[in-house]
Amino acid sequence: MEEISRRNFLSTVINSLIGLWVIGAGILSSYAGLKYLWPTEKTAGSGGEKKPSFPLAELEEGSMKKVVIGGKPAGIIRLNGQVYALSLICTHLGCVVSWHPDEKRLICPCHGGMYDVTGTVLGGPPPRPLPSYEVKLSGDTVVIG
Ligand code: FES
Repeated sequence: MEEISRRNFLSTVINSLIGLWVIGAGILSSYAGLKYLWPTEKTAGSGGEKKPSFPLAELEEGSMKKVVIGGKPAGIIRLNGQVYALSLICTHLGCVVSWHPDEKRLICPCHGGMYDVTGTVLGGPPPRPLPSYEVKLSGDTVVIG
């Protein structure tokens, strides 16, 4: 009788530990998966200089350079001889948009919001344009902000 009780007790403890481990692993993997699929302003990076500057030669026509302004991701795009600087934080729910040079537009991976190179909304749910930053050319150096 005593051995059966001991066996039941050990079985209950082991099953409980396995159950807790499975629940914990499920919660952690769900959180990591959501963070990967839905990169938000907080997960996109932090720190960085307030007024990034770099040689214009580093930015090829049609390409985008990512910088951090005030701890938030921004994109510097050179297109048709102009340089544009935009926040990369989608105005819908805060995902990080990416530059699609073949389409010449920024597209949000979360709900398909689309913006042109000036930040104007072209389609999808974003309610406002992407905020832009001032761009100055000092000789061959691009200065943002
Ligand atoms: S967060 Fe960008 S379209 Fe929804």
